[in-house]
Amino acid sequence: MALNIVIMAAGKGTRMKSALPKVLHKLAGRSLLQHVLDCTAPLQAAQRIVITGHGAEQVEAATAASGARFVRQMPQLGTGHAIQQTVPVLPDDGTTLILNGDVPLIRSETARRLAEACSDRALVLLTIDLADPTGYGRIVREGGRADGAVQAIVEHKDATPEQRLLREGYTGMMAAPTALLKRWVMALSNNNAQGEYYLTDIVAMAVAEGVPVLGLKAADETEVLGVNSPLQLADLERRYQRRQAETLMEAGVRLADPARFDLRGELVCGQDVEIDINSLFEGRVELGDGVRIGANCVIRNARIAAGARIHEFTHIDGESAGVSIGEGALIGPFARLRPGAQLGAEVHIGNFVEVKNSQLGRGAKANHLAYLGDATVGERVNYGAGSITANYDGANKHRTTIGDDVHVGSNCVLVAPVTLGNGATVGGGSTITRDVGAGELAVARGRQTAVAGWKRPQKKR
Ligand code: UD1
Ligand code: CA
Repeated sequence: MALNIVIMAAGKGTRMKSALPKVLHKLAGRSLLQHVLDCTAPLQAAQRIVITGHGAEQVEAATAASGARFVRQMPQLGTGHAIQQTVPVLPDDGTTLILNGDVPLIRSETARRLAEACSDRALVLLTIDLADPTGYGRIVREGGRADGAVQAIVEHKDATPEQRLLREGYTGMMAAPTALLKRWVMALSNNNAQGEYYLTDIVAMAVAEGVPVLGLKAADETEVLGVNSPLQLADLERRYQRRQAETLMEAGVRLADPARFDLRGELVCGQDVEIDINSLFEGRVELGDGVRIGANCVIRNARIAAGARIHEFTHIDGESAGVSIGEGALIGPFARLRPGAQLGAEVHIGNFVEVKNSQLGRGAKANHLAYLGDATVGERVNYGAGSITANYDGANKHRTTIGDDVHVGSNCVLVAPVTLGNGATVGGGSTITRDVGAGELAVARGRQTAVAGWKRPQKKR
């Protein structure tokens, strides 16, 4: 069976009230259209066609990496007109599966079931029973019985008062024998309430020709809900996050509250991972056994090894270089780890400490108010409060190298490039511009002077 997949994405999405084309709005960090493309990837279709129209260039550029083929529909005269545009690029056999670019949470299994039920010969409609079917095309069945043969789809605006009472709605997704689909869509007219070419009118054509029409019920509402407004987008976001939270919890991850958990990417967890409320994970994040994440952390592209603890309000962003945190490390609260931060086991990074493109050896500590950028830091180093690496001379970045067991006092400036040998000590308040040898003490600050009997200035009368 040759399978072709068509994704309709030409509509305007007026109710989003946005300059961004609707299908490019993001759900869990991926565009709506990307969700549909990802859903169809496992189906190994002969080709995937995306119908673009509104914001076509932007939509095509954003999803070019999918390898899908783009067909433009200008102007947009309805869903039937949209499929007409694909006729020249569809083959004359096999099955065509039609999905919507604004219905993002359709599952691969459901899409596959639709295509398989068609098996090149039946017209298969994905339907759903709705408490409030307003706006949906209604599935009209023989004798009005739930098990009656499907006779037609009637659009809400064209439906009679009795038809509007029907609860079974068309989800906008179907599978059809490709050759018949092509013939049917070319025969559509726009003689209806909206003056549009309705794809749904092909159902009555199939019935008239004696082609079997099957209604397949969607298992859950979430996978057939479309996005038309910011409110619906937010609703689907929460549903999707709930799905992900449940999958993680089934695997043993302990989320303090699945309703206050957000994942925009991939989260891989070991055993006994605990995640407190309101954390956001993006990109790819790995958490080893027993990792605990405090409340209100943002963690993007990072690997956190077993037993590490990330305290409240920590911000970790590995971007493309990544961040890695060793076993048993303690990070935060209020720490900031940036790309290329590689922290060894048992490292401690405390409040208001920023680390970027730096390697810290086992047991190194920077507990308060400090900056480490472009630095190599040895084991057991103690890096004092308020100390910074001055890594940027206004034109170029330079490295700071700190050996094992170095003690850097508080409020020091290490002007890179500079090296502190193993076991060196830097006195508090020093500005270090030259290398310090192993075991040496470096003090680079004004000497303290004492003026006995000093009189403070008096206010003039
Ligand atoms: C459509 C169905 C309706 C169904 C509903 C489910 C038709 C005539 N009606 O109605 O039975 O219950 O979906 O949500 O098909 N699109 C184009 N080009 C166009 C028009 C639409 O690409 O000219 C795309 C849209 O971007 C969207 C999809 O087709 O992805 C559905 O369009 P929409 O306007 O939402 O259809 P409805 O009127 O809601
Ligand atoms: Ca719609």
